[in-house]
Amino acid sequence: MCGIIGYTGKKNAVPIILDGLKRLEYRGYDSAGIAFFNKDGIEVRKCTGKIKDLYSVMETDKPFSNTAIGHTRWATHGRPSEENAHPHRSDGIVLVHNGIIENYLPLKKKLIDEGYKFASETDTEVICHLIEKYSKEYPLEESVRKAIKEVKGAYALAVMDEKEPGKIVGVKKDSPLVVGLGHGEFFLASDVPAFLNYSRDVIFLDEGEMVVMTDDGVIITTLDGIPVRKEVKVISWSPSMAEKGGYRHFMLKEIYEQPRAIADTLRGRFYPESGQVNMDEFGVDKDDLKGTEKIFIAACGTSWHAALVGKYMIEEIAKIPVEVEIASEFRYRNPILGRGSLLIAITQSGETADTLAAQREAKRLGAKVLNICNVVGSTSSREADAVFYTHSGPEIGVASTKAFTTQIIGLYLFAIGLGRLRGAIDHDSAIVLLRDLLFLPGKVEKILASNEELVQIAKELFKADDFLYLGRGINYPIALEGALKLKEISYIHAEGYPAGEMKHGPIALIDETVPSLFLSPKGRLYEKILSNLEEVRSRGGRIIAVTDEGNTEVCNRSDYCIFIPETNPYLLTILLVIPLQLLAYHIGVLRGCDVDQPRNLAKSVTVE
Ligand code: AGP
Repeated sequence: MCGIIGYTGKKNAVPIILDGLKRLEYRGYDSAGIAFFNKDGIEVRKCTGKIKDLYSVMETDKPFSNTAIGHTRWATHGRPSEENAHPHRSDGIVLVHNGIIENYLPLKKKLIDEGYKFASETDTEVICHLIEKYSKEYPLEESVRKAIKEVKGAYALAVMDEKEPGKIVGVKKDSPLVVGLGHGEFFLASDVPAFLNYSRDVIFLDEGEMVVMTDDGVIITTLDGIPVRKEVKVISWSPSMAEKGGYRHFMLKEIYEQPRAIADTLRGRFYPESGQVNMDEFGVDKDDLKGTEKIFIAACGTSWHAALVGKYMIEEIAKIPVEVEIASEFRYRNPILGRGSLLIAITQSGETADTLAAQREAKRLGAKVLNICNVVGSTSSREADAVFYTHSGPEIGVASTKAFTTQIIGLYLFAIGLGRLRGAIDHDSAIVLLRDLLFLPGKVEKILASNEELVQIAKELFKADDFLYLGRGINYPIALEGALKLKEISYIHAEGYPAGEMKHGPIALIDETVPSLFLSPKGRLYEKILSNLEEVRSRGGRIIAVTDEGNTEVCNRSDYCIFIPETNPYLLTILLVIPLQLLAYHIGVLRGCDVDQPRNLAKSVTVE
């Protein structure tokens, strides 16, 4: 995700835009830019790096302007560079964009055929040229309306036209956009923190709404130009809370961002009606994929847990053997792989030293490397042969949440796409699996709505010294992930274990002081996990069960019960992990821990 901001009014817009971008930097920080009206028209200045670098660019002459827009970027299409930084321009049209344009490639081809020259690799630039095309005949707001009708995807836009000084047009679809109301001055931004120092009176735009801002005021309409009456809300948050979107911690905000992060990661990558995955988004040569005899997946920490889930998905759906390795082990064990092997390196940051070393080792041995990563232009993504970018946006909290669930989305799509390529899964089965994705964000939302139940369970258990997390099959990696979340933010000793393994030793740990969390949804191994639960219960262990809505059979045998909606066993891993993230978060907060920056940890471990 990126951060956009616009201002028009009597003050100098430039320092307001720069200050606003600083407050939006948590939304993305690989490059930034500003566009402002001056006596000659609209000037654009942009740079790679952080907002402080843009400050330096503006420091030289400190320009004055009453109307400006700005952008801080989290790259999704096109590496971080000055050319790819926003604002983008097409003749007199200049704009900034937050979102993802699904159909930018066909639109780009059509515009090039019409003679437009592209200066960047981004999807955004397409919108710019489309608006410019219409602006030859129509005023800015009408040009935007006509251009947007050709665009598919998510966008929050702020657009200016040299022919109309002082005017900013904003449009919202699937990306946030909020209007700030000042006295004779108006703001437009991705999020409230951008202008909270200047105004607390805000209007949140809804889907398909457009705002036309001049220093006379704001007019809000639908994309068809029908005026809309909007409620003005007064923000009571402090600026610091506002950066967290009103959440107490970035980790909680990022847990709640998962429905959108999943939707953004899915956008443009699968076609449920045809049962197809857009394998171009993985960038692996199709012949290489067809010739692959074995897949290795290397990663660390939470990303390793995603790798373990990926093994089950790829082996069961694409019918190809998968070996999962902790990257720090893989790199030193002289692995047997080479041509005909594919290494998938999973890393949120793209800078984890062990994972980077693992993918370098695989390349040295002749294997192809696919990177699943959340940071465009990171070292891992630049060195890999191919990259699938998760679009979860910057993950600020050290404990990985939305990056994990979107990594699983990437692995799920890869398994289905590879399965179709290899003829391992038929058309109808693929349609069923892909259709389940359409309902996933809503099911995650439903679990998030039961947060209060997790708070109550956390209040009962936060004083425990030891915790066990138990799962079977594809849910065993989720048990590992739940334990890691608790460990790293509450400092409680927690272990994830295959539930069937309990009787081979760990069950000696059980007594009434040790809570055991069982991932016990209905499924092939349900009866087995139920008997493991009974083994613990009969020894006086306290039991938390995560199971299907209404499953009283499990709940009657547990001290605490957490319900989740049903879906296929693969996507169930995502639904199962959400309550574990929330439980770990609330226990960490109750224990007074710094949940965003836990002791001894770093967001990206760039050393061995
Ligand atoms: C996850 O909550 C941890 N912070 C940590 O295990 C992390 O997953 C690991 O360091 C790997 O990071 P990466 O995904 O950026 O490579």
